[in-house]
Amino acid sequence: MITEYITMTEEAIDRAAIEKAGQILQAGGLVAFPTETVYGLGGDALNPESSRKIYAAKGRPSDNPLIVHICRMEDLAPIVRDIPDEALRLAEACWPGPLTMIFHKSDLVPPETTGGLDTVAVRFPSNRIAMALIAAAGGYIAAPSANRSGRPSPTLARYCREDLDGRVEMIIDGGPVGIGLESTIIDLTEGQPVILRPGYVTQERLEQILGRVETDRAIIEPDSGTAPKAPGMKYRHYAPKGSLTIVEGGREAVITYINARTRECREKGIRTGVICTDETCRCYTADSVKSAGARTSGETIASRLFRILREFDDEEIQVMFSESFGEGGLGQAIMNRLMKAAGHKIVQV
Ligand code: TXA
Ligand code: MG
Repeated sequence: MITEYITMTEEAIDRAAIEKAGQILQAGGLVAFPTETVYGLGGDALNPESSRKIYAAKGRPSDNPLIVHICRMEDLAPIVRDIPDEALRLAEACWPGPLTMIFHKSDLVPPETTGGLDTVAVRFPSNRIAMALIAAAGGYIAAPSANRSGRPSPTLARYCREDLDGRVEMIIDGGPVGIGLESTIIDLTEGQPVILRPGYVTQERLEQILGRVETDRAIIEPDSGTAPKAPGMKYRHYAPKGSLTIVEGGREAVITYINARTRECREKGIRTGVICTDETCRCYTADSVKSAGARTSGETIASRLFRILREFDDEEIQVMFSESFGEGGLGQAIMNRLMKAAGHKIVQV
């Protein structure tokens, strides 16, 4: 398959190209497109054949359900069995935006899209290119992140090309995404709302809207032996090609530890990388030192993390160390992704 590339911005949407992309989707084809979180790999959510193609293009296990993207509030009711009051309050406060809610699904949604589950994940993205595309496709696009399974989610169209060239009909380049981490997922099907994947919409924010909200134990304590409720959270995602270790401790101790380790690697001819902050990036001696941003700017760190992991791959870095980024605000989402990239390797110094 030859993949067609189209470039546009949210401010200047290419209507003709969106129409064409909509026709590709309605005919059962695949289109990668920008959202405010990460790029998505879209197919018609109501067509089982499209969902099968998404799994094949991504190389993803088909028990891992997809998120259904909508672009109008009135399109929610037909795909879910009921809309709890909490969902209405969350939609009012957070949609369009980086929040995914889990509902009981209606018969309109094929089991191929939900990995066989009788629940469905729904998101109303705020990116205007995404909204135009969803409307052109007929209202429902199933879209996982547009990476090959196991690679970091794409924050630039270039990374969709690296992973999906020749596997999808079209890739829409809408420039760099704003947020850089996937949406927050909240389960509303069991009474007590539970966060299944931390993201840009924080637990604090959700609690302001709903009152008490829990986080899936499997996320807070990855070694607890509990299976995560979002099937995708059990896979080792975001894996860079080299090995990554998170180093936690006081600032000087972390710098001393990482510099000692990277020096040992250099003596053996192993290429090293460090993920750090603006405050510390001059202190390291690794082959490649990348600041994710100022330590207090969770938003910048979130937006750069996946790109840094991909850049290390391009630079053929074999051993990487990262500073830890704390737990407040976006810290929970950042550390969740970083821990997965590190396969939970963490040392305290
Ligand atoms: O920001 C995002 O959410 C991006 C953009 C493209 O919208 N999409 C995304 O999709 O991250 P994906 O497929 O990479 O991650 C979807 C996650 C997986 O962990 C999956 O297991 C979980 O959502 N999920 C989907 N449907 C579910 C359901 N019915 N119950 C529990 N978890 C579900
Ligand atoms: Mg993904």
